[in-house]
This record gives sequence, structure tokens and C-alpha cells, in this order.
Amino acid sequence: MATERTLSILKPDATRRNLTGKINTLLEGAGLRIVAQKRIQLSRAQAEGFYAVHRERPFFNDLVTFMISGPVVVQVLEGENAVQKNRDVMGATNPANAAEGTIRKTFAESIEANSAHGSDSLENAAIEIAYFFSGIEIVG
Ligand code: CMP
Repeated sequence: MATERTLSILKPDATRRNLTGKINTLLEGAGLRIVAQKRIQLSRAQAEGFYAVHRERPFFNDLVTFMISGPVVVQVLEGENAVQKNRDVMGATNPANAAEGTIRKTFAESIEANSAHGSDSLENAAIEIAYFFSGIEIVG
């Protein structure tokens, strides 16, 4: 297994409920290192750009509106097999289907307000990390 980096977003439902520390504890407990992190307020254009692959989906507008409803914490996570490891720690997209102990099972409010986003592939991780971070902001 190789050391990888993946993009994580703690969503507005998590920042609103002051859960960033509790979620970070789960990430770090799984062996992921937070090698970059910042709290930002996305603009509509920035959220639409990030989720451009979902533009044709019926939930796109609601998703964008939710993602700009409050601050998010964007992070770069590093570790062995980090892309899959983060997805395992997050659990299924729909919290109703997420395993016990996962971020979404523990904290998510709904499939939309599901507390965390994680890149779905190494290729997309590189694209998503570059969307939010420059190289000098990532300190491994
Ligand atoms: P995320 O990993 O951020 O990627 C796209 C997001 O769309 C997803 O998490 C969900 O929060 C949101 N979403 C809302 N409705 C749906 C749906 N029906 N299927 C998949 N994702 C959805």
C-alpha cells in the first residue's frame, strides 16, 4: 500500500454543531494525518465548481445551497491507502446505510447534511486538493 493524500470537507452541518474536533478525532484515530486544514465560507460559484460532476443530478441545486449555508473545513488527509481509509471512516453516503462508529452514522443528519465529503479516487483526490490548496499549504 502506498502513502496517499485525499481531500476531506467537514460540511456546514458539522461546523454548525461544533463537531470539527470530534470528527478530526475519528480521522486521526484511523491513522489519517491532517496535513492541511482551513475553515472557509464557499461562494455559490466555488461550490458549483467543486461539485461540477454532479451538475445534472436532481439534488445539485439543493446540495450547493446546503454547502454554502455555513462555513466548511477543507482538509488534506495523508496516510496509507488514505482515499479508501477516509471513505471507510466516513461510512456510506446515506447515514441510514452507514456502519456503526463511522462519521456519518455518528453525526450525519441526512443524505445531504452528511457531515463529511471525501474524494472517491486517487485521481479525483489530486484534482480536489488542487481546488482548495496550493503546495506550500500542505505540510506532511
Ligand atoms: P458527497 O460525498 O459530498 O458528494 C455529493 C453529495 O451529494 C453527497 O456527498 C451527498 O451529501 C449529496 N447528496 C444529496 N442527495 C444525494 C443523493 N440522492 N445521492 C447521492 N448524494 C446525494
